[in-house]
Amino acid sequence: MVQRQSIEEEDLSECVIVAIDLWKIYRLGKVEYPALRGINMRIRRGEFVAVVGPSGSGKSTLLNLFGALDRPTRGKVIIDGVEISALRSDQLAELRNKKLGFVFQTFNLIPYMSAVDNVEVPMIASGLSPKERRARAMELLALVGLNGFEKNRPNELSGGQQQRVAIARALANDPQIILADEPTGNLDSKSAAEVIDVLHNLNKKGVTIIMVTHNLGLIKHCHRVLWMKDGLVEKEVKQIVAEL
Ligand SMILES: Nc1ncnc2c1ncn2[C@@H]1O[C@H](COP(=O)(O)OP(=O)(O)OP(=O)(O)O)[C@@H](O)[C@H]1O
Ligand SMILES: [Mg+2]
Repeated sequence: MVQRQSIEEEDLSECVIVAIDLWKIYRLGKVEYPALRGINMRIRRGEFVAVVGPSGSGKSTLLNLFGALDRPTRGKVIIDGVEISALRSDQLAELRNKKLGFVFQTFNLIPYMSAVDNVEVPMIASGLSPKERRARAMELLALVGLNGFEKNRPNELSGGQQQRVAIARALANDPQIILADEPTGNLDSKSAAEVIDVLHNLNKKGVTIIMVTHNLGLIKHCHRVLWMKDGLVEKEVKQIVAEL
């Protein structure tokens, strides 16, 4: 019994995200809508996990709870050993800024700023000097294959390039975890493949990635696929990751 417990604890220490009996009930007037109905999940350090499932099954809701962008109605989210419901709002902001990187379907870049300025935004509160921020932003843009595009504004970039700027921005403060909600949803298949390439390379460097996607062609690069339905994980498939 004692040994069993210690094995479980060891397992937990390998996990960057743990969800325990996670519920999210939206209330619209008198109507209650349970978007998540008791999710239990463990995401291990270094995993690349795909979350798939029909529209309305709760994928974005789950990612928003993992990212501390919203609070659960019931249950716990533990990020890197810390139960996030216990954190004050300034601690949550720090967690979002330092440990997590977000990538959304609609890129969410600031339209009047250049690519390099967009990437610098999350670093403003980091204590780096303007020169250091610029150098790091240039490095990150090079990492996502955007050498030569640093001065372009979002409307001077293709969708795939904009999403790669968004990934560089998500990496600004060297997060352990990237939460990506349909990162290729607005992209043609070639750009989608380029974006997945970037995410796959980051994962190889140790970044844990959780990606919601409708594109089943992309999940071959993921270690695990979680199939959601009606607010629950209906099934889970472990995969041997295909090399790119
Ligand atoms: N802010 C909200 N208020 C009320 N209901 C919501 C809210 N956000 C989501 N819902 C409902 O919760 C359910 C789950 O929504 P969610 O956005 O998580 O689904 P999803 O799996 O991401 O779908 P999609 O594939 O279309 O993005 C849906 O039925 C949705 O209508
Ligand atoms: Mg969604």
